[in-house]
Order: sequence, then structure tokens, then C-alpha cells
Amino acid sequence: MTSHGIAQGSSSTNLDPWYHHYADRAAGLSASEVRALFAVASRPEVVSLAGGMPYVSALPSDLIRSAFDRVMIESGPQALQYGSGQGTPALREQILEMMALEGIHGSVDDVVVTTGSQQGLDLVTKLFINPGDVVLAEAPSYVGAIGVFRSYQAEISHIAMDEHGLIPEALRERIASLTAAGKTIKFLYTIPNFHNPAGVTLSWERRLEILEICRSHQILVLEDNPYGLLYFDAPPPQAMRSVDEEGVVYLGSFSKTLAPGFRIGWALAPHAIREKLILANESAILSPSSFSQFVVSEYLRTADWKGQIDTFRGVYRDRRDAMLEGLNEHLPHLNWTVPNGGFYVWLDLPAPLDSKSMLPRAVKELVAYTPGTAFFANGNGRQQMRLSFCYPTPDTIRLGIRRLAAVINGEIELLNTFSQTGQVDVSRRSERVTNPPPDMN
Ligand SMILES: Cc1ncc(COP(=O)(O)O)c(C=O)c1O
Repeated sequence: MTSHGIAQGSSSTNLDPWYHHYADRAAGLSASEVRALFAVASRPEVVSLAGGMPYVSALPSDLIRSAFDRVMIESGPQALQYGSGQGTPALREQILEMMALEGIHGSVDDVVVTTGSQQGLDLVTKLFINPGDVVLAEAPSYVGAIGVFRSYQAEISHIAMDEHGLIPEALRERIASLTAAGKTIKFLYTIPNFHNPAGVTLSWERRLEILEICRSHQILVLEDNPYGLLYFDAPPPQAMRSVDEEGVVYLGSFSKTLAPGFRIGWALAPHAIREKLILANESAILSPSSFSQFVVSEYLRTADWKGQIDTFRGVYRDRRDAMLEGLNEHLPHLNWTVPNGGFYVWLDLPAPLDSKSMLPRAVKELVAYTPGTAFFANGNGRQQMRLSFCYPTPDTIRLGIRRLAAVINGEIELLNTFSQTGQVDVSRRSERVTNPPPDMN
């Protein structure tokens, strides 16, 4: 390449003069489809069913403000100072209390506070993944995790799910085929509760079976659980970490149960891994924000945080109901998942509709969603989309679903009118839940 000029050769159209200088791992960093969407979908006239923003307006802002004030009055100099790489002892104690609600009993020594659970994902991946190592993940999986795994040059192998979550038999078969191919599998990444994006919850029996499979192959389980306390009816089964202290790294977050702006999450890890996580945390960021930790801790100490989570449950339940009513009314011929908590519904489109190529038309009709392809590392997902019900009001959700249905039904009509190959098949609506497309990875 010419120095400080336009790169030559195969990338001669690339205007980045540093194009050939980046480390190989930078090739895994590309703007996610969700991110690219935010710019368009944030126009006020567009109903966005795309993002996963919690409805923070339901928080008691006066209580948060008084937590801020008390932190500044009582502990200002410490809150404004660097802290420990592991996080403040007071907050780690409170995190234990929170995790106990999901059946987890650990030691305060084994909790590491992170800058959101996204950083927990990054730290664990940094500790375990060499280029070419395999990460097993559900099909589909959280877009932000796929981004992290890619950035460390992991090979991502998607495992099929159904309405009860990850399918243990599919996991067993995949481990066998990858092992036979000489691959090194480092961990299974799973979101057992109110999955992002699939909306489903892993059954208790499967949790136990999956833990047993992973234990017998020495595969670490990375359990990511930001939504577990946001259930609508009954709580989900207890966390996988509640029955396996040695084989699970558990990630938690205050982003959905409190507010993502604090950027506070945590990892609970087996002792030896915990030690490395602290070192990796210090090397990455020195310490998580002291100020955020103090404020979150003060809020937990003084506010009725369990009552607040109940309020969130009610808000999101109403929004989920509005979305399901809209789907039942306007798209009764399609399949979707029925989440019992969390933020997301996963919708199947009939072939040959394509959620990615349909998106510009949807945005033109003033509704946005996230195409299923964002949640696969292998290009799958064209016949799925994620619909988020967390942020818009119930009425706005109903409007959004009406608009979306007009786009989808318009596409089906168009294809039926002009197709040489017969009618779009919308007749086989199955009982309820989708199987993500089989993934041959
Ligand atoms: C499954 C999952 N994991 C992790 C995260 C990241 O959350 P945090 O804000 O704690 O970094 C999200 C955010 O949407 C998520 O859905």
C-alpha cells in the first residue's frame, strides 16, 4: 500500500489508508444489522420493533436521583475514584442476593463486576478462544455475542432449538462431528431464559441434560441471563449455575432489571477462572465505574427494587400481549414464539419471503424489525425476524404490527400473483413455535 494513501491491489477501492495494517481479528468487527438499523428506525414516524431498549421511563427517577445525591454526599471521594478490578464488595454482596432469586448460591469472592454483561462476554472469550476454536451457540443467538466471538476469530457453530430451547440431541451430535473433524470446542454459549432473539426458555430437564453433556466433554458453559427476573407468569426454571459451580460461568446484568446506562453487569465464575477474569478486567479497563457501582448499590439498599422489577414485568407483559393480539389478528397464517418473559418474539415467514430484502419496504411503510440473519453467523435466518415489544407502548405496537402485516401480506399476494412456481405456502401453520432452520455448520 502507498504510505498514508489509498490502499493498492485487491482493496484499491478501500479509502481507509490503514486498511492493510489492521490485525486479523479486526476483520471480525463489522457493524451489526441491528446497529445499522438504529439510524433509520429512530425516526419518530417509524414504529421500531427492532431494538432491545428497556423502557427506563418506568423507573422511579426520584429514587435514582436521591441515590445519586446520597452517594455524592456520603461517599463522593470514593465514588469518583478508581476502584478494584473485581468491583465493590457492597455491590457484590447485593448481586448475590439478586442471584439467590434464581437459585444461585455463590461466594462474594467469585463475583466479578463488569461493564455490562457484554464486557463479561468479551472477557470470557478473550480468556478461552484461540483463532479457530469453536464456540457452540443456539440457532439463532444474541447478535452482540456473535460479534464478540467473531472478533476473537472463533468458529461459531449453531445448534438447533425448539420451543423448549436448545435440543440436547443436536448438541450431542454436533460435539461428535466437530470432535471427529479435529476441532477444539471451548464453550457452549446459551441464553436459557426468554432467549434473545428466539423468545423461548430452556426446560429444566434439558438444563440438566445439557450440563451433563458438556461436563462429559469438558466443555465450559457460558450462561447469559439478563432477562431471567422479567417473567410474566411463573418464574423460569432455576439457573444452570445453581446446580453446577465448576462447569458454568454465569453472566448477569442490571441493564434490563434497572437501567443499561449504568453499564453494570457481573460474572460469577469458578474460582480459578474468576482469578483470570479479574486480571483480564484490570488489563482492559482497570476497574468498572466506581460511580455507577455506588449508585446502583445505594438504589438497591434504599429502593423497593423487587417491586420495581414487578412493575417492569407488568409493563412488558402488557406489551407482549399487545404484540400477540396484533399477530393473531393480522397474521394468523404465520408462526411465532410466545415468550413468557423478556423482550422478544421470533416470527417465521413463509418461503420464499426474505426478511432482509423486505426490510426497506417495511421501513417505507414506517415499521422496522430485525431480520433473522443478524442472529446467525452463517447467513441463515432469512425466513425469520425478531420483533421487540420492550420499548413502544401497546398502542404503538398494535400499529406497528398492522403495518408489518400489510407489508408481509402484500409480499405474499405479489408472489402469488406473479410466481411461476405456485402459491406461497401459508397453510401449514404449526402448533405454535418455530424451529430455527436446521444448521449444518
Ligand atoms: C442476551 C444478552 N446478553 C448480553 C446483553 C448485553 O447486556 P449489557 O447491557 O449488560 O451489556 C444483551 C443486551 O441486549 C443481551 O440481550
